[in-house]
Amino acid sequence: MALQLGDIAPDFTADSTEGTIHFHEWLGDSWGILFSHPKDFTPVCTTELGEVARLKAEFDKRNTKVIGVSVDSVASHESWLQDIEDATGQRLNYPLLGDEDHKVADLYGMIHPNASDTLTVRSVFVIGPDKKVKLTITYPASTGRNFEEILRVIDSLQLTSDYSVSTPVNWRDGEDVIIAPAIDDDAAKERFPKGFRTIKPYLRYTPQPNR
Ligand code: BEZ
Repeated sequence: MALQLGDIAPDFTADSTEGTIHFHEWLGDSWGILFSHPKDFTPVCTTELGEVARLKAEFDKRNTKVIGVSVDSVASHESWLQDIEDATGQRLNYPLLGDEDHKVADLYGMIHPNASDTLTVRSVFVIGPDKKVKLTITYPASTGRNFEEILRVIDSLQLTSDYSVSTPVNWRDGEDVIIAPAIDDDAAKERFPKGFRTIKPYLRYTPQPNR
């Protein structure tokens, strides 16, 4: 069965452009993003990998480690790095796993046979410090991802893991959040001293509590 939210992210050992990675040990207490791309030396993947390198400081700020994977070899990844730099101006600053035997791809269900028998789709797994899967996204090979959206989701995941709140449609860090319906108004007054406004009994907004 496909990996689902709340499942433990499968552990593995694999070679990467930064040496051997023991995945859970490498994650340590950090959040993590494991993302697949279909193939080295392809156009959309080149833009995506450069973009993730550009955003690395933003992932660092969020205590989030990033790692990529495709079914190519580490040697292939290494020979592609210069192209990524030429095309995007970004030197890779995170590891890329080699997965010629599909070990990681199969553990994470990254090959969707009705899309391609051999190539990984564009999967994203966000993993919490408890090693549980917090978010999965799957895009086809033809569509590059929006990694700013993944930063936005991490902001929401980290906030909602610390406070009894959820984030509304299109929420961005710094905007008002929703108080969990399980918290009654009296408890909400205590837990959210900045106050709240009630739109419906089940929809109450409060300023972001960690700001
Ligand atoms: C790309 O990155 O452009 C790509 C990779 C594999 C299949 C199709 C497109």
